[in-house]
Amino acid sequence: MAKSPLADALAFCLRKIDRLKEVPDFPYATRAGRWQTIRPDETDYMPAHGSWTVGFTPGLFWLAYAVTGRDEYAREALQRCRRFSHRAGDRTTHDLGFIFYPSYVQGYQLTGESWLCEVALRAAHTLAGRFNERGRFIRAWGSPDSREHAGETTIDAMMNLMLLFWAAEAGGDPELARIATMHAETSGRTLVRPDGSTYHVYVFDPQSGEPRGGHTHQGYADASTWSRGQAWGIYGFARAAAKTGRADFLETARRLADYFLKRLPEDLIPFWDFDDPEIPGAPRDSSAGAIAACGLLELAAAESSPTGTERYRQAAARVIEALFTRASSRARPDQDGILLHGTWHRKAGFAVDESLVFGDYYFTEAVVRLLRD
Ligand code: GLY
Repeated sequence: MAKSPLADALAFCLRKIDRLKEVPDFPYATRAGRWQTIRPDETDYMPAHGSWTVGFTPGLFWLAYAVTGRDEYAREALQRCRRFSHRAGDRTTHDLGFIFYPSYVQGYQLTGESWLCEVALRAAHTLAGRFNERGRFIRAWGSPDSREHAGETTIDAMMNLMLLFWAAEAGGDPELARIATMHAETSGRTLVRPDGSTYHVYVFDPQSGEPRGGHTHQGYADASTWSRGQAWGIYGFARAAAKTGRADFLETARRLADYFLKRLPEDLIPFWDFDDPEIPGAPRDSSAGAIAACGLLELAAAESSPTGTERYRQAAARVIEALFTRASSRARPDQDGILLHGTWHRKAGFAVDESLVFGDYYFTEAVVRLLRD
């Protein structure tokens, strides 16, 4: 994708981010084109689906601040970050990376504000408290004291490792990086199938740590490949490779990326699950494309050869161009989101063919990276 269409895409993202200033609370998905929001200070975080996404709104403001240097974006981001600092102690979920990386870590990297660093370090320690030593995995759901879901991890959890790698480098305990590395090793052995596709969920015996088998929660079937999960895996393994220098993580990221690219339809907008028998009539998930594009750029940066770098960078650019041309709201001023055609949870009937705040975040991140790197 040439610089000029990318510049158009960035200008479009900035216009949408400007409109977010007027949205009260935290958007998570659209309904009939309008953002639905949650308040992170509500004690029950209803609707539960949105509670892992509160970091993406300040994240979008930070991306805008990074490219424009305009203080108003930093002010908007900081004001929103303050509203969910209490989640750093949330022991019920692995989502702490999604919540604190685009918001607090990115904000700290851009401004050096020490409270952002302190809270993000606290969140990293809370996340590490979910590590199952026997099975060497971070459990996805439920508090560490509860038995329900005690043996389950997900491919999404790979994305949360970046909080741990960052924390270990930012003065936290080096143990945090050890936990992240062990979780990535376990995920590579269990969640990744021999053909480079992924399970959404993997179940272990929580006491002995013995691996039991792969399942799904949000995908079409246990044996299918949920495209957003595959995208989280590309990004997560590429970052783990960059942080550890491990050739096996790099190879896993390549295998996941190659599988994702092979399963894209001709128009490059992923179906929500690559194996839904309703394809080509099945819903798309534009957010999977945006996340995968960021993962491909991370992989391009971690690649050991200029050919590898160019291959994955070009693939990312093609996906972003397709999303901008065929799945963005640039010709739909009535729509709040940047990307149309996201699918959050198809089987639950939740936010199907809508804009999703994380799709908008990773699309903007990819555009910024393509223009910058
Ligand atoms: N929990 C992350 C996702 O739905 O993709």
